[in-house]
Amino acid sequence: MVRPLDLGIFLPNAKGGAIMATGSPPQYYPTWDLNRKNALIAENAGFQFLLSMVKWRGFGGETKHWDYSLESFTLMSAVAAVTSRIQLYASVAIPTVHPAVIAKMTATIDDISNGRFGVNIVSGWNKLEYSQMGLWGGDEYFKRRYEYATEYLTILRALWREERVNYKSDFFSLDDCKSYPKPSREIPIICAGQSDRGIQFTAEHADYGFLGGQDDSLEDLGRLNSKLLGVADGFGRKVGAYVLLTVIADETDDKAKARRDFYIETSDKEAMAEWARVAGMDFSRATYKDLAVQTFMAIPYVAGSYQTVADYLDGLAENGIAGVCFIFPDYSKDLQLVVDRVLPLMKRRHALQPQAVPA
Ligand SMILES: Cc1cc2nc3c(=O)[nH]c(=O)nc-3n(C[C@H](O)[C@H](O)[C@H](O)COP(=O)(O)O)c2cc1C
Repeated sequence: MVRPLDLGIFLPNAKGGAIMATGSPPQYYPTWDLNRKNALIAENAGFQFLLSMVKWRGFGGETKHWDYSLESFTLMSAVAAVTSRIQLYASVAIPTVHPAVIAKMTATIDDISNGRFGVNIVSGWNKLEYSQMGLWGGDEYFKRRYEYATEYLTILRALWREERVNYKSDFFSLDDCKSYPKPSREIPIICAGQSDRGIQFTAEHADYGFLGGQDDSLEDLGRLNSKLLGVADGFGRKVGAYVLLTVIADETDDKAKARRDFYIETSDKEAMAEWARVAGMDFSRATYKDLAVQTFMAIPYVAGSYQTVADYLDGLAENGIAGVCFIFPDYSKDLQLVVDRVLPLMKRRHALQPQAVPA
């Protein structure tokens, strides 16, 4: 049986989202007002989750891409207060904050949200984000980042479950550490690591992982999904695979593709060069296809008519993907457009009616 696809939103909490182009859209400032409106549209349409990212440094350029971002936990705390049914995830960059602090922030938002909160574990890839505050552990840290993440999550779970925690290692020292209140449930954990080691961490410790790059076909995503589920099975665990997806939907395939091409033609070369530099990528002899990869930040996208997008989403579910997390070029109107025009055409979706508000 094909399971209906979970639907989520990658909230617009960092300037420019995941499209490195100079126009407006896709450029926007990440205001509370914009995030609140998208959160409420998604909840009212019956979406399953909202995720915000954590970002401490952007890529500059004409667009100042990601230079402005709202902090993830404080943002989701506010989102928790204005929503009542949808699952919420904040992201923590684990080199920046001790797990005892995150344990308590999580318990706080679990209470505010009435048990709807989860955590996305970000091990950190952009050295400059952390070295600018003296928090980069060097190349050695990067090699060992999922070892660090494993200990970090072990400590979080211990603080959420146990009365007192004692823990000593190369990375941490907890001495009779207490954390109350305890969260009301097991906190769901996401990890979006893409490397073999990241995928192994997800399979062994997390509840949901993200998979897929821009060139992956639906069948490729199906194979990656089977691989992730197979590794998790080896650990005696069940994990759900999500796909982060930029959606450009319009009346016709041609109109949507024209919008996609426009973003590629107006891409912010300076910000893209800085992204490439800090990520250690070489785009110096980029072809048009490479330009698309860079403009859409290597994230999978679908550009097509409402029916094309609906069919693509059904295809994800039919290839075993548990859920999709949407990115939009224009958060001021694209989510409502997808709710009104795309979702009614999908076969593999949850019922769209809002669920009953819990008492
Ligand atoms: C859905 C999704 C959300 C992510 N959120 C963040 C984030 O909030 N902050 C960040 O620095 N990196 C984020 N990343 C990057 C991942 O955490 C990870 O560093 C990246 O995919 C590289 O994987 P690796 O660590 O296995 O090499 C995200 C990636 C995806 C696909």
